[in-house]
Amino acid sequence: MEGHDISQAVIRRLPRYYRYLGELMEQGVERISSNDLSKTMKVTASQIRQDLNNFGGFGQQGYGYNVKYLYTEIGKILGLDENHNYIIIGAGNLGQALANYQSFEKRGFILKGLFDVNPALKGKTVRGIPIRMMEELKDFIQENHIEIGVLTIPKEKAVEVANLLVDNDIRAIWNFAHTDLNLPDNVIVENVHLSESLMRLSYNISRYHQEHKDR
Ligand code: NAI
Repeated sequence: MEGHDISQAVIRRLPRYYRYLGELMEQGVERISSNDLSKTMKVTASQIRQDLNNFGGFGQQGYGYNVKYLYTEIGKILGLDENHNYIIIGAGNLGQALANYQSFEKRGFILKGLFDVNPALKGKTVRGIPIRMMEELKDFIQENHIEIGVLTIPKEKAVEVANLLVDNDIRAIWNFAHTDLNLPDNVIVENVHLSESLMRLSYNISRYHQEHKDR
């Protein structure tokens, strides 16, 4: 199953399908029509059919979708059928909060190490994983087959540290620092900005007030 021609918009929706299908599986649902999936997910049935047709459909006329099969296939497309080792750079508030979140492991994301420059953190552990100093980074990446670097450091340091990761063969960065990294094209970067999500929430609150004031 080739994933390279699929639009980013579809890719962005896949984790949501995956989550809903996982919940259906937990409830013991074995199959579901696109109409029922549409009602649960509040996405049009035609959108669902269109999205899933990108991957050969998975559905059968009159039968609907086999939940477990669809879940497994979407998991494969998202690369969740393999483990991904990751490290967190910046063991402050956010870095430690992410490290404490156990559910990433269930999805195959294995936290191998935490790194920081603050000597006061050296040797402290989060979920049994010690915080190491940056001097150990290079060897650690090689020895532990690290695929993903998570950046939870101040934005002023993010570009420098991202380059250091890339120089040490890290090819995927989950960037929480509020800055664009501008890395080579063969490096995959996923930016996460909670404040942008909050701004969208704020916009919708303002719009809601506006609409209700005008009535
Ligand atoms: P924090 O100050 O608690 O933690 C930052 C840690 O990075 C500190 O332990 C510090 O010693 C370490 N650090 C600084 N320079 C370093 C370097 N060169 N190499 C390795 N470690 C280094 O800050 P907090 O609250 O955890 O935030 C971390 C970053 O995440 C900030 O840039 C903040 O703006 C950002 N952030 C982003 C969010 C998002 O939605 N994208 C949400 C919350 C925070």
